[in-house]
Amino acid sequence: MQNLIDGRTISQQIHAETAQRVAALKARGIAPGLVFIRVGEDPASQVYVGMKEKKSAELGIHSVTKVLPETTSQADLLRLIDGFNADPQWHGILVQAPLPKHIDQATVYAHVSPAKDVDGFHPVNVGKLMLGDPTGFVSCTPAGVHELLIRSQVRLDGAEVVVLGRGNIVGKPMASILIQKGRHANCTVTVVHSATRDVKSHCQRADILIAAMGVPEFLRADMIKPGAVVIDVGVNRIKDSTAKSGTRLVGDVAFAEVQPKAGLITPNPGGVGPMTIAMLLANTARAAELAVAR
Ligand code: GUN
Repeated sequence: MQNLIDGRTISQQIHAETAQRVAALKARGIAPGLVFIRVGEDPASQVYVGMKEKKSAELGIHSVTKVLPETTSQADLLRLIDGFNADPQWHGILVQAPLPKHIDQATVYAHVSPAKDVDGFHPVNVGKLMLGDPTGFVSCTPAGVHELLIRSQVRLDGAEVVVLGRGNIVGKPMASILIQKGRHANCTVTVVHSATRDVKSHCQRADILIAAMGVPEFLRADMIKPGAVVIDVGVNRIKDSTAKSGTRLVGDVAFAEVQPKAGLITPNPGGVGPMTIAMLLANTARAAELAVAR
């Protein structure tokens, strides 16, 4: 369909660019290295980390995965991170969420060296994004949405954007990226959330809508302006008695009814999803480039 933003194709372009950067680093004797840390046996995390490992290898990024038991103490996890922080052969460190309940996620993310924080979760990197300091790392999913918009030639300068959701991983950094003064930003951003009084009236004004609140098929056709650009970040597992597994994945956008009214729209899957890994590996290449420059 003509109005689809093809995240698979765009992510392949970014992977090709990253592969070239990795090759250039290797030609200078530097092998970019990425550490994955997984705690416990969350099935979705196993799949996600497996996909990230595979793609790293394809691009020539050397990776190692540490799998710790569910019962690992926070102190032991922090000690493991200390070791990777101090070891120059590793340029990026990713601690896969979710973590077990007895471990405080914010403490763990603040413990990863900001220079190796390819997830962009460390407070220093979150702060740099807010300040418009380009030396930090930006959270991969909102960075990926930004790339989708740029590479689809969506006009950002002066655009009215509604971000649905105020999470630390997508909503807040997404708004920060788009409000910056400068090229590929300059948007007027409204963030709507669970306490917003009239979500629909905000959405109907938007030139660009980015749905990242984690509510299955929340954004409906009557909530958007004709021709609006719609980006669906949602990944929600819902019950479906007709599916073999008894469940299926849906986004935050009611795609079938929104797509005919939208100017451009991401399919889901095949929209935002592939961009997250692309930005992670681009961040890893940059972490290695910056380590060399230091
Ligand atoms: N869990 C789900 N998405 C992510 C991500 O982007 N990074 C990490 N570290 N964990 C996740």
